[in-house]
Amino acid sequence: MKLTVIGTGYLGTTHAACMAELGFEVLGLDILPERVATLASGRVPMYEPGLEELLRKHVAGIEGSTGRLRFTTSWEEVGAFGDVHFICTNTPQRRGEFACDMSYVESAFDLLAPHLHRPALVVGKSTVPVGSAERLAERLAAAAPVGAGAEVAWNPEFLREGYAVDDTLHPDRLVVGVRSAEAEATLREVYAPLIGRGTPFVVTDFPTAELVKTAANSFLATKISFINAMAEVCEASGADVVQLSAALAFDERIGGKFLNAGLGFGGGCLPKDIRAFMARAGELGADQALTFLREVDSINMRRRGRMVELAREQCGGGFLDRRVAVLGAAFKPNSDDVRDSPALNVAGQIQLQGAQVTVYDPKAMDNARKLFPSLSFADSVLDAVTGAHVVLHLTEWQEFREMDPEALGKVVAERSILDGRNVLDRQRWRDAGWTYRALGRPS
Ligand code: UDX
Repeated sequence: MKLTVIGTGYLGTTHAACMAELGFEVLGLDILPERVATLASGRVPMYEPGLEELLRKHVAGIEGSTGRLRFTTSWEEVGAFGDVHFICTNTPQRRGEFACDMSYVESAFDLLAPHLHRPALVVGKSTVPVGSAERLAERLAAAAPVGAGAEVAWNPEFLREGYAVDDTLHPDRLVVGVRSAEAEATLREVYAPLIGRGTPFVVTDFPTAELVKTAANSFLATKISFINAMAEVCEASGADVVQLSAALAFDERIGGKFLNAGLGFGGGCLPKDIRAFMARAGELGADQALTFLREVDSINMRRRGRMVELAREQCGGGFLDRRVAVLGAAFKPNSDDVRDSPALNVAGQIQLQGAQVTVYDPKAMDNARKLFPSLSFADSVLDAVTGAHVVLHLTEWQEFREMDPEALGKVVAERSILDGRNVLDRQRWRDAGWTYRALGRPS
């Protein structure tokens, strides 16, 4: 069985490399020739731990590789090559709307269809509004020369950036929405090595498979906003959200994961997925069921405002002539992704209010520069904090956890730090003479 992967972003590149790792011949397609050239030379155009190693292990033409993985821009080649085609194109939020932009997924199906001359399974992995798979299946069968021989399945992906390879090779579960026993059998064969290891394999219809993904992301976002709402109450009442969260976590029904209060969630998935879910529920007449997600979104955005407010207080009530150091630009550590980054959002707001903002991030500097060219960027923590009136810790990279408050204290204008992720050792900073403040904790 030969596989193709259409779309080589985080999801597609990881999926292609991991399928080669499982032993398949894989052909990846992207419409961008420069992306294909980069991948074909064994380089990954984003920071994702372990992915480049895996790519180099399998990309054809690299010395010592298995040669099982190739990349192309040709739909014709993909159609002729694959028995199973994985659609991994992105579904961003539409400009000015909550709904998701399906144009990349739709065009992948439309461009592939005319090249399906023999039976094939087209497997959607992108996160899509419930109901999309059924619509796309009809569209595909109508346009493919093989007609109903081109079948669709939906197999949502749950990988996290920063852990993409591990999440793909060791998933919590595999979910497949199928319409025939043949499609199920094909996907069981693809994932046989993982199923053999005991990975739960959940077989559903199309809408359920689509919903598992959006429901999972909504639950995760809700959990984060729940603890951040508690942080607001802690701020109002003098309680400590870090202790609260730790105590809640002992209850196994609640659990401690995704219960870290702080600046909230960002990235290319959670924010846009909950918004697209609300938009879709509205179309289905089920919007009341998801009104709570509006609150989840608002609580999340309020944390950013609160951080700006704390920074302003630490700057003496206004930002004019104040220097602010922002540590972190990626939406989370171990990633260079700056899409909907809470850290950059805060940096941008503070700059707009008149502060001189300098940003440092271990991996996301290039992407941050492209998105916010008007911000200043430093090459190290030390450079970023030199002369700062307040230091904002906004993305919890390991490098920041290890910072030396004594050494930094010598170069800042004022020993003042705001911990937006609640991970720094508060006592250590206070012992070194710093004013340490955090979201949801008493000053
Ligand atoms: C998420 C889902 O976890 C993944 O299953 C899905 O496939 C895609 O969306 P990802 O966007 O890579 O993955 O990031 P994730 O690790 O989930 O973190 C999302 C955001 O939540 C980050 O901004 C992170 O900083 C924030 N977060 C996470 C918190 O604020 N508190 C927490 O306790 C956990």
